[in-house]
Amino acid sequence: MKMKKLVVLSGAGMSAESGISTFRDSGGLWENYPVEQVATPEGFYRNPALVLNFYNARRKELIGAKPNEGHKLVAELEKHFDVTVITQNVDNLHERAGSTNVIHLHGELMKACSSRNPDDRKCIVELPEHNPVIKIGDKAKDGSQLRPFIVWFGEAVPMFDAAVKETEKADIFVIIGTSLNVYPAAGLVNYLPQESPVYLIDPKDVDVKSVHNVTFIKKGASEGMKELMSLLIK
Ligand code: OAD
Repeated sequence: MKMKKLVVLSGAGMSAESGISTFRDSGGLWENYPVEQVATPEGFYRNPALVLNFYNARRKELIGAKPNEGHKLVAELEKHFDVTVITQNVDNLHERAGSTNVIHLHGELMKACSSRNPDDRKCIVELPEHNPVIKIGDKAKDGSQLRPFIVWFGEAVPMFDAAVKETEKADIFVIIGTSLNVYPAAGLVNYLPQESPVYLIDPKDVDVKSVHNVTFIKKGASEGMKELMSLLIK
C-alpha cells in the first residue's frame, strides 16, 4: 500500500530543546544581534567580519548540540509515512537525527557560498567540522569572498518552489516551532490541499486563522511529537 505523504514545516522552536536559541522569543537571537547587521546583504557589505564571526559562533554552537527527542521522532515518522521535512532552520539536526528528505528554505549553516552569486551551486562548499570557520580572504571558486550559505532578509528563497510542490501533495501537514512571521515560508500553508489535516506543535499560541482543520498541540517539540505519534500511529 502506498504510504501517505506527511510534510513537516519546522522552525527555530524545533531545535530549542537542543540548546539553540530561537529568534523572536524573549532572549532570542534578534534581541541580541540586530537583524539588519547580521542577516541582510547590506549588513554583510558594511561589516563582513562581524557577520562572518556571528555565523562562525553559530556553527560552533551547532557542533556542540545534539538532535533532541523531537527531531528523532520526526525521523521515525519515515517508518509510517512518506515524509518531507521543510525547515526554516539552518542547522543540520534533522539530518543528524536520521531524516532523509530535508528541504532547507533558509540555507545551511555548515555550508559556504559565493558572495557574488550565492545561488551558484558550483561555488557551494561544505565547511569542515573540525574547523568550520569562514575568514576574510577565504575565496569561493569564482574568486569572490566566501560567505555563509544563508538566505538573508531581502534575498530570494530558491528552495521555495520545491517546498510548494511538496506542500501541495501533503496528506498530513505538521508545523513545529515556528512563529510563522517570515514569508514566503509562512505562506506555504496556503498551498495545502483543503481537506488535509494540520497539526501545530508549539508551547505558545501561533496565529493560523487562515488554515482549516488545525489540531493545536500546545507543547514543546519533544512532548508535542510524542503526542502526535500517539494520534497518528494507532
Ligand atoms: P521564531 O523565533 O520566530 O519562532 C520560534 C517559535 O518556536 C515560537 O513560536 C516559539 O513559541 C516556539 N518554541 C519555543 N520553544 C519551543 C519548543 N521547545 N518546542 C517547540 N516550539 C518552541 O523562529 P522561526 O519562526 O523559525 O531566518 O523564524 C523564522 C525565520 O526568522 C528563521 O528561519 C530565521 C529568522 O529570521 C533567517 O535567519 C534567514
